[in-house]
Amino acid sequence: MQLALSTWQEVERYLEHSTGIIIPIGSTEQHGPNGLIGTDAICPTKIASGIEMQTDVLIAPTINYGMAQHHMAFAGTVTIKPSTLIQLICDVVESLQHHGFTHFYFINGHGGNIPPITTAFCQLYHAASLAGKDTPRCHLANWWRNDAITSLAEELYHGAEGHHATVSEVALSYYAHPEAVKNVTLSPEVAPVLNEGENFYDAVDFRNKFPDGRIGSSPQLATVADGERFYHLAVEALTDDYQRFLATL
Ligand code: NI
Repeated sequence: MQLALSTWQEVERYLEHSTGIIIPIGSTEQHGPNGLIGTDAICPTKIASGIEMQTDVLIAPTINYGMAQHHMAFAGTVTIKPSTLIQLICDVVESLQHHGFTHFYFINGHGGNIPPITTAFCQLYHAASLAGKDTPRCHLANWWRNDAITSLAEELYHGAEGHHATVSEVALSYYAHPEAVKNVTLSPEVAPVLNEGENFYDAVDFRNKFPDGRIGSSPQLATVADGERFYHLAVEALTDDYQRFLATL
Protein backbone atom coordinates (compact mmCIF):
# COMPACT_ATOMS: atom_id res chain seq x y z
CA MET A 1 0.00 0.00 0.00
CA GLN A 2 1.45 3.33 -1.09
CA LEU A 3 0.77 6.40 1.02
CA ALA A 4 0.75 8.64 -2.06
CA LEU A 5 -1.89 6.45 -3.73
CA SER A 6 -4.13 6.10 -0.66
CA THR A 7 -6.95 8.20 0.72
CA TRP A 8 -7.01 9.47 4.29
CA GLN A 9 -9.76 7.00 5.08
CA GLU A 10 -7.57 4.12 3.85
CA VAL A 11 -4.74 5.34 6.06
CA GLU A 12 -7.10 5.45 9.04
CA ARG A 13 -8.14 1.85 8.35
CA TYR A 14 -4.51 0.77 7.94
CA LEU A 15 -3.67 2.28 11.33
CA GLU A 16 -6.32 0.05 12.94
CA HIS A 17 -4.18 -3.02 12.16
CA SER A 18 -0.64 -1.65 11.78
CA THR A 19 1.32 1.38 12.93
CA GLY A 20 4.46 0.66 10.92
CA ILE A 21 5.62 2.51 7.83
CA ILE A 22 8.54 2.14 5.43
CA ILE A 23 10.28 5.31 4.23
CA PRO A 24 12.71 4.85 1.31
CA ILE A 25 15.49 7.45 1.27
CA GLY A 26 18.11 8.04 -1.39
CA SER A 27 20.06 10.70 -3.19
CA THR A 28 20.20 12.51 -6.51
CA GLU A 29 23.87 12.24 -7.44
CA GLN A 30 26.28 11.11 -10.11
CA HIS A 31 26.92 7.37 -10.38
CA GLY A 32 29.73 7.27 -12.93
CA PRO A 33 29.48 7.14 -16.72
CA ASN A 34 26.85 4.40 -16.93
CA GLY A 35 25.03 4.74 -13.59
CA LEU A 36 21.80 6.69 -13.26
CA ILE A 37 21.75 9.88 -11.19
CA GLY A 38 18.70 8.54 -9.37
CA THR A 39 20.33 5.19 -8.48
CA ASP A 40 20.35 5.69 -4.71
CA ALA A 41 16.66 6.58 -4.64
CA ILE A 42 15.59 4.08 -7.32
CA CYS A 43 17.05 1.07 -5.46
CA PRO A 44 15.29 1.54 -2.09
CA THR A 45 12.07 2.54 -3.87
CA LYS A 46 12.13 -0.70 -5.90
CA ILE A 47 12.96 -2.81 -2.84
CA ALA A 48 10.12 -1.18 -0.88
CA SER A 49 7.69 -1.98 -3.70
CA GLY A 50 8.78 -5.64 -3.43
CA ILE A 51 8.29 -5.70 0.35
CA GLU A 52 4.82 -4.26 -0.18
CA MET A 53 3.96 -7.36 -2.25
CA GLN A 54 5.15 -9.67 0.56
CA THR A 55 3.61 -8.13 3.64
CA ASP A 56 0.99 -5.72 4.99
CA VAL A 57 2.83 -2.41 5.00
CA LEU A 58 2.38 1.21 4.04
CA ILE A 59 5.16 2.77 1.95
CA ALA A 60 5.80 6.52 2.26
CA PRO A 61 6.96 8.61 -0.70
CA THR A 62 10.70 8.29 -1.25
CA ILE A 63 12.96 11.05 0.06
CA ASN A 64 14.81 11.50 -3.23
CA TYR A 65 17.50 13.94 -2.12
CA GLY A 66 20.38 13.28 0.23
CA MET A 67 23.68 14.56 1.55
CA ALA A 68 25.87 14.47 -1.56
CA GLN A 69 28.31 17.40 -1.34
CA HIS A 70 31.23 15.18 -2.36
CA HIS A 71 29.59 14.53 -5.75
CA MET A 72 29.03 18.22 -6.57
CA ALA A 73 31.91 18.35 -9.08
CA PHE A 74 29.73 16.25 -11.40
CA ALA A 75 26.77 17.75 -13.30
CA GLY A 76 23.29 16.90 -12.12
CA THR A 77 24.10 16.19 -8.49
CA VAL A 78 21.88 17.87 -5.89
CA THR A 79 22.95 18.00 -2.26
CA ILE A 80 20.94 18.66 0.86
CA LYS A 81 22.72 20.19 3.86
CA PRO A 82 23.09 17.71 6.73
CA SER A 83 21.04 20.03 8.97
CA THR A 84 18.25 20.25 6.36
CA LEU A 85 18.13 16.49 5.90
CA ILE A 86 18.06 15.89 9.66
CA GLN A 87 15.19 18.35 10.00
CA LEU A 88 13.31 16.86 7.04
CA ILE A 89 13.53 13.36 8.52
CA CYS A 90 12.37 14.64 11.94
CA ASP A 91 9.44 16.51 10.37
CA VAL A 92 8.34 13.46 8.35
CA VAL A 93 8.52 11.17 11.40
CA GLU A 94 6.78 13.64 13.72
CA SER A 95 3.98 14.25 11.18
CA LEU A 96 3.34 10.54 10.79
CA GLN A 97 3.62 9.96 14.53
CA HIS A 98 0.95 12.60 15.02
CA HIS A 99 -1.44 10.32 13.08
CA GLY A 100 -0.60 7.27 15.17
CA PHE A 101 2.37 5.64 13.45
CA THR A 102 4.89 4.21 15.91
CA HIS A 103 7.50 2.28 13.86
CA PHE A 104 9.53 4.02 11.12
CA TYR A 105 11.65 1.78 8.92
CA PHE A 106 14.01 3.71 6.65
CA ILE A 107 15.44 1.87 3.64
CA ASN A 108 18.48 3.85 2.64
CA GLY A 109 20.36 3.77 -0.67
CA HIS A 110 23.21 6.20 0.04
CA GLY A 111 26.15 5.92 2.44
CA GLY A 112 26.43 9.71 2.79
CA ASN A 113 22.96 9.74 4.38
CA ILE A 114 23.92 7.49 7.29
CA PRO A 115 25.25 10.20 9.66
CA PRO A 116 22.30 12.60 9.09
CA ILE A 117 19.74 9.77 9.42
CA THR A 118 21.20 8.44 12.66
CA THR A 119 21.53 12.00 13.98
CA ALA A 120 17.86 12.62 13.14
CA PHE A 121 16.95 9.50 15.15
CA CYS A 122 18.99 10.84 18.11
CA GLN A 123 17.25 14.18 17.83
CA LEU A 124 13.79 12.53 17.79
CA TYR A 125 14.61 10.38 20.83
CA HIS A 126 16.10 13.37 22.62
CA ALA A 127 13.04 15.54 21.98
CA ALA A 128 10.63 12.78 23.06
CA SER A 129 12.53 12.03 26.27
CA LEU A 130 12.61 15.66 27.34
CA ALA A 131 8.98 16.29 26.41
CA GLY A 132 7.82 13.10 28.13
CA LYS A 133 6.16 11.95 24.88
CA ASP A 134 6.06 8.54 23.21
CA THR A 135 9.37 7.89 21.50
CA PRO A 136 9.11 6.93 17.83
CA ARG A 137 10.76 3.60 17.01
CA CYS A 138 13.17 4.27 14.12
CA HIS A 139 15.25 1.78 12.20
CA LEU A 140 17.84 2.28 9.47
CA ALA A 141 18.32 -0.46 6.87
CA ASN A 142 21.13 0.20 4.40
CA TRP A 143 20.04 -2.29 1.74
CA TRP A 144 23.51 -3.02 0.35
CA ARG A 145 24.99 -3.83 3.77
CA ASN A 146 23.72 -7.36 3.86
CA ASP A 147 25.65 -10.63 3.81
CA ALA A 148 23.55 -12.14 1.02
CA ILE A 149 24.04 -9.07 -1.20
CA THR A 150 27.78 -8.93 -0.47
CA SER A 151 28.21 -12.64 -1.22
CA LEU A 152 26.34 -12.46 -4.52
CA ALA A 153 28.36 -9.38 -5.58
CA GLU A 154 31.60 -11.21 -4.78
CA GLU A 155 30.46 -14.33 -6.64
CA LEU A 156 29.44 -12.34 -9.72
CA TYR A 157 32.09 -9.60 -9.85
CA HIS A 158 35.14 -10.96 -8.00
CA GLY A 159 36.27 -7.80 -6.21
CA ALA A 160 35.06 -5.35 -8.89
CA GLU A 161 31.85 -4.51 -7.00
CA GLY A 162 33.49 -1.30 -5.70
CA HIS A 163 32.33 1.36 -3.25
CA HIS A 164 30.51 3.94 -5.33
CA ALA A 165 28.56 3.35 -8.52
CA THR A 166 28.82 -0.28 -7.43
CA VAL A 167 27.91 -3.00 -9.89
CA SER A 168 25.06 -4.25 -7.69
CA GLU A 169 23.35 -0.87 -7.35
CA VAL A 170 23.71 -0.10 -11.05
CA ALA A 171 22.30 -3.57 -11.85
CA LEU A 172 19.36 -3.09 -9.47
CA SER A 173 18.59 0.35 -10.94
CA TYR A 174 18.68 -1.21 -14.43
CA TYR A 175 16.24 -3.90 -13.30
CA ALA A 176 13.93 -1.14 -12.01
CA HIS A 177 14.34 0.92 -15.20
CA PRO A 178 15.43 -1.27 -18.13
CA GLU A 179 14.47 1.57 -20.48
CA ALA A 180 17.38 3.62 -19.04
CA VAL A 181 20.20 1.06 -19.41
CA LYS A 182 23.36 2.78 -20.73
CA ASN A 183 25.85 1.09 -23.00
CA VAL A 184 29.12 2.88 -22.29
CA THR A 185 32.71 1.63 -22.46
CA LEU A 186 34.47 2.40 -19.20
CA SER A 187 38.16 3.16 -18.89
CA PRO A 188 39.87 2.04 -16.76
CA GLU A 189 37.74 -1.06 -16.51
CA VAL A 190 37.98 -1.04 -12.70
CA ALA A 191 37.90 2.42 -11.09
CA PRO A 192 40.58 3.55 -8.58
CA VAL A 193 40.21 3.12 -4.83
CA LEU A 194 41.63 5.06 -1.89
CA ASN A 195 45.07 4.07 -0.63
CA GLU A 196 45.44 2.83 2.93
CA GLY A 197 44.77 5.67 5.38
CA GLU A 198 43.60 8.05 2.64
CA ASN A 199 40.22 9.80 2.67
CA PHE A 200 38.24 12.15 0.46
CA TYR A 201 36.83 15.44 1.65
CA ASP A 202 35.17 17.87 -0.71
CA ALA A 203 33.82 17.71 -4.24
CA VAL A 204 37.05 18.78 -5.97
CA ASP A 205 39.08 16.30 -3.95
CA PHE A 206 36.62 13.52 -4.84
CA ARG A 207 36.85 14.25 -8.56
CA ASN A 208 40.64 14.44 -8.45
CA LYS A 209 40.80 11.00 -6.86
CA PHE A 210 37.93 9.44 -8.84
CA PRO A 211 37.88 11.23 -12.23
CA ASP A 212 34.81 9.52 -13.72
CA GLY A 213 32.89 9.32 -10.44
CA ARG A 214 33.25 5.60 -9.71
CA ILE A 215 35.15 4.16 -6.73
CA GLY A 216 36.66 0.73 -7.25
CA SER A 217 33.82 -0.57 -9.39
CA SER A 218 33.38 -2.05 -12.82
CA PRO A 219 29.70 -1.29 -13.47
CA GLN A 220 29.83 -2.18 -17.16
CA LEU A 221 29.25 -5.68 -15.71
CA ALA A 222 25.78 -4.62 -14.50
CA THR A 223 22.86 -6.40 -16.15
CA VAL A 224 19.09 -6.34 -15.68
CA ALA A 225 19.19 -10.07 -14.89
CA ASP A 226 21.73 -9.58 -12.08
CA GLY A 227 19.69 -6.65 -10.82
CA GLU A 228 16.69 -8.94 -10.46
CA ARG A 229 18.76 -11.30 -8.29
CA PHE A 230 19.87 -8.47 -6.00
CA TYR A 231 16.30 -7.23 -5.84
CA HIS A 232 14.92 -10.58 -4.68
CA LEU A 233 17.68 -11.01 -2.08
CA ALA A 234 17.10 -7.52 -0.69
CA VAL A 235 13.31 -7.91 -0.60
CA GLU A 236 13.59 -11.23 1.23
CA ALA A 237 16.12 -9.93 3.80
CA LEU A 238 14.39 -6.63 4.47
CA THR A 239 10.86 -8.10 4.65
CA ASP A 240 12.02 -10.33 7.52
CA ASP A 241 13.94 -7.47 9.09
CA TYR A 242 10.91 -5.15 8.90
CA GLN A 243 8.63 -7.74 10.47
CA ARG A 244 11.09 -8.31 13.33
CA PHE A 245 11.37 -4.54 13.85
CA LEU A 246 7.59 -4.13 13.87
CA ALA A 247 7.28 -6.80 16.57
CA THR A 248 9.58 -4.85 18.91
CA LEU A 249 8.05 -2.59 21.54
NI1 NI B 1 24.86 4.86 -4.85
